[in-house]
Amino acid sequence: MATKDKLLAGLKQEEGRWVSGELLSNRLGVSRAAVSKHVRKLKADGYIIESSPRKGYVLQKMSDRLLPAEIQEGLDTKIFGTREILYLRETDSTNTRAKALAAAGAPEGTMVVAETQTQGRGRKKRTWFSPLGQGIYASLILRPAIPPSEAPRITLMTAVAIAEAFLALGHSEIRIKWPNDILMNGKKIAGVLTEISTEMDTIDYIMVGLGINVNTPLESFDETLKSQATSIFIETGKEFPRIRLVRAYLQWFEKCYARFHETGFAPIIQRWKELTDLIGQRVMVDVIGRRYHGSVSDVDGDGVLILKDDQDRLHRIFSGDLTVIKP
Ligand code: BTN
Repeated sequence: MATKDKLLAGLKQEEGRWVSGELLSNRLGVSRAAVSKHVRKLKADGYIIESSPRKGYVLQKMSDRLLPAEIQEGLDTKIFGTREILYLRETDSTNTRAKALAAAGAPEGTMVVAETQTQGRGRKKRTWFSPLGQGIYASLILRPAIPPSEAPRITLMTAVAIAEAFLALGHSEIRIKWPNDILMNGKKIAGVLTEISTEMDTIDYIMVGLGINVNTPLESFDETLKSQATSIFIETGKEFPRIRLVRAYLQWFEKCYARFHETGFAPIIQRWKELTDLIGQRVMVDVIGRRYHGSVSDVDGDGVLILKDDQDRLHRIFSGDLTVIKP
């Protein structure tokens, strides 16, 4: 463990009690000047540490940044969160960074996380609003041994993992909207952008990008987002520790991914269907400009939407933008 991490562990262990510089320097086997240098670095990482010439140091408040060491603390996953986590204060898009890492050979489970994105991307070439420190913007690299035609399953699986993470943290008002929007109280709180690189008929790598609005206040959203999007803060009136959500997501992602490999897609899509309110609802689906109106008859074992139009014709829709028509 690096000296800075050991120092942090020492301060955390004291649980808000003062600890002298001398004790810390003895424990870590470094000079008191080195202790003070590493305290400065921790402060720069967002930890609130008070220092006093007489009493030493006390950790007043944890950093609220999504620092790799914090993400990894208490995580009992084998792959996701345990491989390299590239932490960036600002980046264009975590999916773009992950793509560069994957192209250079980064293994499955590598993660990129940023505090803000200047060119956050959503589905259908939309932008993803990524205000500093208010949301989760993260991408995972996958190298699944499945044919490219099955890649959409990963997106649906990710939506299940996100929903499970929210539910495990006590946010019961979470539903999935086809294909992979996560809604809280009917408004979009999270989305998934899966991008794929193939070679002949095999997958080279997949980037699974996750965006969650966590502590975004309503006034940060523009008028369009105000009517369609939400955040945990908006829904509950309270800030939520982003780190807890990242950890829960990684745990559930690993669980769902293992289930997907071991037992196939059937249990995943079954869970997906339990987590949606869509079946039977009247909807409009836009498929590259062509609009289908009707009711959702089913979502099949591959995640394809089965829509029954007003003439009772069934349409199999692989991809599109769905709007629920309120009665
Ligand atoms: C959607 O349109 O619903 C998908 C949104 C995905 C946003 C995330 S944020 C992290 C990752 N990097 C990106 O540029 N996009 C995804």
